[in-house]
Amino acid sequence: MQNSYYISILELYQYIKVIKYYLVDFNIMKGSCFIMSKQNIDWSNLGFGYIPTGERYVSNYKDGKWDDGAMTTDSTITMSECAGVLQYAQTVFEGLKAYTTVDGKIVVFRPDLNAQRLEESAKRLEIPAFPQERFLDAVEKVVKANADYVPPYGTGATLYLRPFIFGSSSVIGVKPAEEYQFRVFATPVGPYFKGGAKPITIKVSDFDRAAPHGTGHIKAGLNYAMSLHAIVTAHAEGYDENMYLDAATRTKVEETGGANFLFVTKDGKVVTPKSNSILPSITRRSLMYVAEHYLGLEVEQREVYFDEVKDFAECGLCGTAAVISPVGKIVDYGKEICFPSGMEEMGPVTKKLYETLTGIQMGRIEAPEGWIREIC
Ligand code: PLP
Ligand code: COI
Repeated sequence: MQNSYYISILELYQYIKVIKYYLVDFNIMKGSCFIMSKQNIDWSNLGFGYIPTGERYVSNYKDGKWDDGAMTTDSTITMSECAGVLQYAQTVFEGLKAYTTVDGKIVVFRPDLNAQRLEESAKRLEIPAFPQERFLDAVEKVVKANADYVPPYGTGATLYLRPFIFGSSSVIGVKPAEEYQFRVFATPVGPYFKGGAKPITIKVSDFDRAAPHGTGHIKAGLNYAMSLHAIVTAHAEGYDENMYLDAATRTKVEETGGANFLFVTKDGKVVTPKSNSILPSITRRSLMYVAEHYLGLEVEQREVYFDEVKDFAECGLCGTAAVISPVGKIVDYGKEICFPSGMEEMGPVTKKLYETLTGIQMGRIEAPEGWIREIC
């Protein structure tokens, strides 16, 4: 009898979890995160993989409108075997990261641009837009609910957020679905390329990634499905990534499967390819701003011919997952382009760009107005 007055540690833990669930999910604790303790993860040795976290955000679209949305602990989805996403790849997604800053805050980098881009991607695939304000709110809720999974400062890891929308109702004739799901999950990640900041080797792909007037400029799952054979082939041949050329003339540099290119000329100018069929990378746009306004470098966005790549001093890949990954060597059917920065270290300009951008993201360097959204 006496025992009924006591609760076990386990029960107490469950009660605290329920309280946290309501406080965080109904935004009662706006501006604060409820972390009992960080997850027991070897943060510094994380790769870029999926680790399911506690909660994710889900909203469904039916009868012409999005519902109110809610957080859920269920990481699985049940839908029709004939769903638009399964039959005709009707899905678009985003990728962004939450960081622990030097002073212990949790922040997200430029999520407004991901919200905008998701809307643009959705339009191209006849997917109803998810309101941008609600996108930001969903991201905030997911980060707060999974604050125990945001890697500590200095570990090199971050919390990757994956917002996406997919056609969930059945379609058999080729047409848009009538129902959709918007979902945001989070997963802690380390570097995209094994070896982190070590230069990688890439191959000029035999395959094309995106056609003129196609879907290369949006973040649609279909762009990645068609790159899988090319990346598996490149890996089997010992390369880390593919360089895609423009599909029409195969003379101009486009991008890789998951990142834009940045080049540095011998006189220190930062050059990035301009094309209507590459993804407008938020990292690349941020780096060009950083190069010009923080580092005082000349920047240029223009068509880059493959023939001139051999004349650059440095080359890097930029993206949310890739951050800036230095490229040491590009191989085109046995012909090697080896950048003077070599295979051991990032080139000096790439390094400055990397340090300034990550400094802004981690709160060591003051950010331009509106770049950092503080979660808690
Ligand atoms: N290009 C492609 C094909 C990508 O998948 C990504 C990743 O999002 C990028 C570029 C980089 O874009 P961002 O810097 O917005 O992550
Ligand atoms: C990202 O950088 O967020 C991407 O979506 C790229 C993908 C290859 C992981």
